[in-house]
Amino acid sequence: MNPLEGKRIALGVTGSIAAYKAAEIASKLTQAGSHVDVILTESAERFISPLTFSSVTGHKAYTDKDLWGGEGHVIHIGIGQNSDLLLIAPCSATTIARLAHGLGDNLLSVTALAAKCPIMIAPAMDGGMYAHAATQTNLRILKERGIDILGPASGHLASGQLGVGRMMEPNEIFDHVNFHFSRGNALAGKKVVVTAGGTQESIDPVRRITNRSSGKQGYAVAQAALNAGADVVLITAPTALQAPYGCQVVAVTTAQEMLEAVLQHQDSSHALIMAAAVADYRPTLSAEHKIKKHDNALSLTLEPTQDILLRVAEEKEKSGFPKYVIGFAAETQDLLTNAKKKLSEKRLDMIVGNDVTGKDAGFGVDTNRVSLLFSDGSQQNLALGSKLGVGETIIEHIISWS
Ligand code: CTP
Repeated sequence: MNPLEGKRIALGVTGSIAAYKAAEIASKLTQAGSHVDVILTESAERFISPLTFSSVTGHKAYTDKDLWGGEGHVIHIGIGQNSDLLLIAPCSATTIARLAHGLGDNLLSVTALAAKCPIMIAPAMDGGMYAHAATQTNLRILKERGIDILGPASGHLASGQLGVGRMMEPNEIFDHVNFHFSRGNALAGKKVVVTAGGTQESIDPVRRITNRSSGKQGYAVAQAALNAGADVVLITAPTALQAPYGCQVVAVTTAQEMLEAVLQHQDSSHALIMAAAVADYRPTLSAEHKIKKHDNALSLTLEPTQDILLRVAEEKEKSGFPKYVIGFAAETQDLLTNAKKKLSEKRLDMIVGNDVTGKDAGFGVDTNRVSLLFSDGSQQNLALGSKLGVGETIIEHIISWS
């Protein structure tokens, strides 16, 4: 399930002020289970020491001294041919030029020439250097050759100016690499739709009715589905979260908008996982102008929204899609009884029963404690674990049915 487990990644580091950030990339990839071989150019060594990298990866980091040593040939051919990915981050304008023109005048560039694996680069340089016609032409050549170019981002540059040229942030680079390795996994080519967050229903232009859902569990399910190789559509109510890299994000606000988005994606989907907390009621009328304060009590009249899962079940009768449908039951009492009722009424393959009364489970926190109930009457109680772990277990069940 972890796309980075057991992968061999060659990480090239070149001369840029962003070189220090490469230590974080090496550390994150290593912690995720990959073997990372770091190669520093001579200029990179001026910014950061090989010792930093050998400390975070647990083995030797290579420099140009190794190219001219007795094992030089073995090193670049070995790393170039045995790696699953060559990532160069940060990648300077000079290294971009070396790659574009096939130069092999340092350990990193000869490794790139010998590489049989995909190559990703994260350019980092001053705005003017990035915009220069030579750099742009070189980048175009690399793109045409199938090299994946990550960023660069815009923002503050080392020169003190604002512009395009900053290296993409380490966590984003990590997400790109993770996504890259997930693509061949068990759910490759299968569309998985995940809903997340709490819908919002307008009372007037400044007020709304919503719930305490943070979206964390739904986003974790989406990440788990991506890691399993699926094409993920994340239909999300407003949250404070960053969507996992690689999802198609459909932003909605109300229960009605979520219903429409789900129905639009239902036909071709392998699985639908409704982790969203959908409003059951909305104000009958949303006032055109801000409701003014009075001394009297204020009554709001609410009308029911449509139940999305019930509509999906109706549509599925006709189309057969989504092949698998999973719901959540967030409960404060009688968890199993309520969850079982919803499992059968909404004609689900599985329901995730979620007791939201504990401090360590349910709304807002990173952990969860759930019971999975299946349409054949079986049940699996999961111990307290991360929301990503819960997402992975749900996705493992979908894989086992597929
Ligand atoms: N759900 C839905 N459409 C709604 C409300 C809920 O599809 N209008 C989905 C949720 O996304 C969840 C499941 O139904 O997967 C159960 O939601 P929950 O709020 O626990 O149950 P309700 O059916 O709304 O019943 P109640 O609020 O009475 O517990």
